[in-house]
Amino acid sequence: MSKHTRTIMITGGAGFIGSHVVRLFVNTYSSYLVVNADALTYAGNLENLKDVEKAANYRFEKADITDAAAIEALFEKYAFDAVIHLAAESHVDRSIIDPLAFVKTNVLGTVNLLNIARRYWANSETKMEGKRFMHVSTDEVYGSLGEEGFFTEETAYDPRSPYSASKASSDHFVMAWYHTYKLPVVMSNCSNNYGSYHFPEKLIPLMINNIVNNKSLPVYGKGENVRDWLFVEDHARAIDVIFHNGRTGEKYNVGGFNEWKNIDLVHLLCKIMDAKLGRPEGTSAKLITYVTDRPGHDMRYAIDASKLNRELGWKPSLQFEEGLEKTVDWYLQNGDWIKHVTSGDYQHYYQEQYAKR
Ligand code: NAD
Ligand code: DAU
Repeated sequence: MSKHTRTIMITGGAGFIGSHVVRLFVNTYSSYLVVNADALTYAGNLENLKDVEKAANYRFEKADITDAAAIEALFEKYAFDAVIHLAAESHVDRSIIDPLAFVKTNVLGTVNLLNIARRYWANSETKMEGKRFMHVSTDEVYGSLGEEGFFTEETAYDPRSPYSASKASSDHFVMAWYHTYKLPVVMSNCSNNYGSYHFPEKLIPLMINNIVNNKSLPVYGKGENVRDWLFVEDHARAIDVIFHNGRTGEKYNVGGFNEWKNIDLVHLLCKIMDAKLGRPEGTSAKLITYVTDRPGHDMRYAIDASKLNRELGWKPSLQFEEGLEKTVDWYLQNGDWIKHVTSGDYQHYYQEQYAKR
């Protein structure tokens, strides 16, 4: 008999959001066994979890979610009663360069996990009782908004990039497994996250890193696209409450009620960075460079997270300026982390792929 009250597989736990979810679960639920299953792609880094790697209730397993034999072996080894699924290819620009990688991981990988969880649980003594498959998805599945309105859980899917199409597809498969096989699923669709351990290919950490290194700040198009930013630890808390208390078969939108035009956000970051680096105000903003727009660039995302607040009492904990300052401080204090993740693989990939564009 296991000494653990629950045994959870968290996929993608070595990535940006996954590492925050793993940390939260390991530190909050000492009676759970938390197994981080991650393939350690360019985006996965075990350095993100140094502070919990020796915890008694934590294990790491290097595994690719598209590899059926590897995932089956993990189910046999640990007898998971829950999965929190975050593993994905997550960067829109990469999906434009290499869409099949996104189909493979985000679609086939998700279906592989669903298949194995269903088979394993259907054959268990307690069947689906007490089991949970949580799928972590994105607001990008809803497409792009004009100046008005919000995405609700009822908004029709309208994905427009290879990344969002692959995530939308994975969401549909998750709901198909709920309806067809009665797999006890729950799902979240979250807006843009920011915070520590964010890979510096994404807007905020890229800009911070470039400002530190006096490199140009590439703003796509006119910088007028709008994103709704949420502190990553607030997202991890949302995943916690949805996993534990969300209604089976339901989806919950997660967002910060915090919309920013890219160019305004970059100016705010420049101002914060000038102050932190002791540079005269206006120094970093001189690095801003308008570059060719992302093809098919969604104009605006804005999440209505009122269902999550109403049903489960969740709300964001931080004001944006406060969260951004915390984030900047973390990057300034963790220059080694940036150096490690931007060396080798990442740089080579970009040099090669962008040279081909
Ligand atoms: P990330 O790119 O930082 O991390 C992804 C993780 O998945 C990495 O650790 C990587 O090694 C792992 N992974 C990739 N392919 C794998 C495979 N085949 N098998 C096993 N592991 C694999 O991503 P993130 O930003 O932390 O996003 C995590 C999840 O949250 C994704 O599903 C993403 O779609 C979703 N999401 C992200 C955001 C955001 O703002 N970043 C917002 C909403 C939803
Ligand atoms: O909305 C949730 C999504 O947010 C997640 O599902 C994705 O995994 C995550 O990567 C993020 O997608 P975005 O495309 O919105 O994030 P990104 O950081 O790539 O870009 C944010 C905005 O900034 C977007 O409008 C494009 C713009 N941008 C981005 C980069 C990298 C620039 O102007 N310059 C840049 O160099």
